[in-house]
Amino acid sequence: MKIVLIGGTGLIGSKTAARLRNKGHEVLAASPNTGVNTITGEGLAEALAGAEVVVDLANSPSWEDKAVLEFFETSGRNLLAAEGKAGVKHHVALSIVGTERLPENGYFRAKLAQEKLIKASPIPYTIVHSTQFFEFLKGIADEATVGTVARLSPASFQPIASDDVADVMAEVALGKPLNGTIEIAGPERGRMHEIVARYLKAANDPRTVEADVHARYFGSELDDRSLVPGEGARIGKIGFEDWFRQSQQPK
Ligand SMILES: NC(=O)c1ccc[n+]([C@@H]2O[C@H](COP(=O)([O-])OP(=O)(O)OC[C@H]3O[C@@H](n4cnc5c(N)ncnc54)[C@H](OP(=O)(O)O)[C@@H]3O)[C@@H](O)[C@H]2O)c1
Repeated sequence: MKIVLIGGTGLIGSKTAARLRNKGHEVLAASPNTGVNTITGEGLAEALAGAEVVVDLANSPSWEDKAVLEFFETSGRNLLAAEGKAGVKHHVALSIVGTERLPENGYFRAKLAQEKLIKASPIPYTIVHSTQFFEFLKGIADEATVGTVARLSPASFQPIASDDVADVMAEVALGKPLNGTIEIAGPERGRMHEIVARYLKAANDPRTVEADVHARYFGSELDDRSLVPGEGARIGKIGFEDWFRQSQQPK
């Protein structure tokens, strides 16, 4: 079956592409670098010709509030319109646990707008809500750092390895559309400031971490429900220690 991965050259995209190719599917990894652009429309119709499934794993080059909203709205509209013309039977998208709960977070607002477009389109869909990737822990620390101190919320946090995310994206791409949303998270739940501190220590990063219940996560204060999934979420296999060890291996 032909499967188009939008953002198929990115972190999750490249890992999902490898899994689907291993199962013998025809995978097109679509991105501006491979001549397919969901913002300009370049190469989109050609890429989607004959595709049964599209998995949207694209990310916005800018996370500034207005730019990221414009990216996910424009990309979503162009992609769904092109899928309609091409007769695509299943649209799969990767979004974030809690998009509906953090309206002050501009990135979450943009992902929610993307989800609304998917739900309003006639194309059968499955949305996967993931928690934060372990690969994103440094980005979280960087955004929260002033000088040598990262001030972070002690809210519940359950990050996941990108390999576990890619396993689920490949499985969902080969399954039936749910016309609904599933949640995925890592195997260990802890406090955000402690997990980020654990990462910084493992990475020999000299920054220190302070817990602050009012510290904002990309614009939003958090509580213990904000970023973690509800009951019934799929749980990944790879914990922090194993992920960190693997991430240190030469590529
Ligand atoms: N980070 C997290 O913790 C987290 C948690 C939950 C969900 N997510 C979601 O996971 C998804 C994938 O994230 P990621 O970290 O794998 O992304 P990534 O590594 O930054 O890759 C982004 C991909 O999007 C492509 N892209 C950018 N602009 C495009 C355009 N105009 N048209 C088509 N493709 C375009 C890039 O292609 P080029 O390389 O050619 O530019 C690249 O292949 C995102 O939608 C994100 O919201 C992230």
